[in-house]
Amino acid sequence: MNYFGLLFLFPVAYSAKHYLRYFLTATYGVPGFPEFVGAATVDEVQVGYCDSNIKTAKPKQDWMRKLIEGDPKHLEWYSQKCLGSQHVFRANIDGLKQRLNLTKGPHILQRMNGCEWDDETGEIKGFNQYGYNGEDFLALDLKTLTWTAPKSQAVLTKLLWDAEKARLEHNKNYYIYKCPELLKNYVHQGRSFLQRRESPSVSLLQKMSSSVVSCHATGFYPDRAEMFWRKDGEEIHEGVEKGEILLNNDWTFQMSVELNISSVQPDGWRRYDCVFQLSGVRDDIIITLDKSVIHTNWDPPEIPVVPVAGGVGGFLLILVVVIILWMKKSNGFQLADGEG
Ligand SMILES: *[C@@H]1O[C@H](CO)[C@@H](O)[C@H](O)[C@H]1NC(C)=O
Ligand SMILES: *[C@@H]1O[C@H](CO)[C@@H](O)[C@H](O)[C@H]1NC(C)=O
Repeated sequence: MNYFGLLFLFPVAYSAKHYLRYFLTATYGVPGFPEFVGAATVDEVQVGYCDSNIKTAKPKQDWMRKLIEGDPKHLEWYSQKCLGSQHVFRANIDGLKQRLNLTKGPHILQRMNGCEWDDETGEIKGFNQYGYNGEDFLALDLKTLTWTAPKSQAVLTKLLWDAEKARLEHNKNYYIYKCPELLKNYVHQGRSFLQRRESPSVSLLQKMSSSVVSCHATGFYPDRAEMFWRKDGEEIHEGVEKGEILLNNDWTFQMSVELNISSVQPDGWRRYDCVFQLSGVRDDIIITLDKSVIHTNWDPPEIPVVPVAGGVGGFLLILVVVIILWMKKSNGFQLADGEG
């Protein structure tokens, strides 16, 4: 089941890396969903959007709006890029339908491209990959300037695209110069937002007196955080279950780590602490295991625990749902690469 994870789920990593990513999705035969949707993200925060219904690019986030106000050409450039890509993607899907004799049934063509910049080492990497109906289709290898086809049905397209030397050179220049330049500008512009530190509220939750105790942190930013349980000041792993970092709908994050307390004697509780550490913040948040501070289900907790998906999360969720709904096996098709 790696159909839909490939393009949209990214591991949380500790680093000084910044990312500019563009997600383009063209759908055919999916009612209620725009035929073409584009989104731009900086460090996983959505900064721009366009689709075939609104026909223009729109900034998201206040700092991006400010940047655009001072440079209206920038927005125009994106609107044109969006419209141009829309036509290219549309032509690709039409060609595909024809060649494969697929008269009905939905088609989803996606591209994720952009660049990564390490602000400590200065290292730059570009990426450009395509998915078709939720599966990896083609990826650009910038070192060899060739396309990689993970599936046999994409080989014909790979050979065609590999022969387009001028386009490949154009692509390379885009990923090495233009994209990092944009990314650095965005990171600079949005630095107070992107580099801010927000400490979470941390609480202990327990469903019933026999259940595991969950240490839950919500409202932190960025997602570079660690949380663990310790006993007598030493980190422990036995009986501990760590959850993933999840996105809240206000662009902050939440996570939790559970402790199995079934073998802990009541007088030994206070030897356990839950520790939350946020990258770039000196002071840890420490909560000692104590019956009096535990929120329980029969005693309504003050802090609601609701995993939510909004913004990029919600947007990606829609795409993921669409992809799951319309998963189909493809037989191979040819298409022309979109612009840079
Ligand atoms: C496509 O469908 C048409 C009409 O049904 C048929 O004549 C043709 O052979 C098909 N082509 C391929 C490549 O399957
Ligand atoms: C907690 O640990 C006990 C014994 O070590 C085990 O029997 C129980 O299944 C564990 N509970 C959970 C929820 O993992």
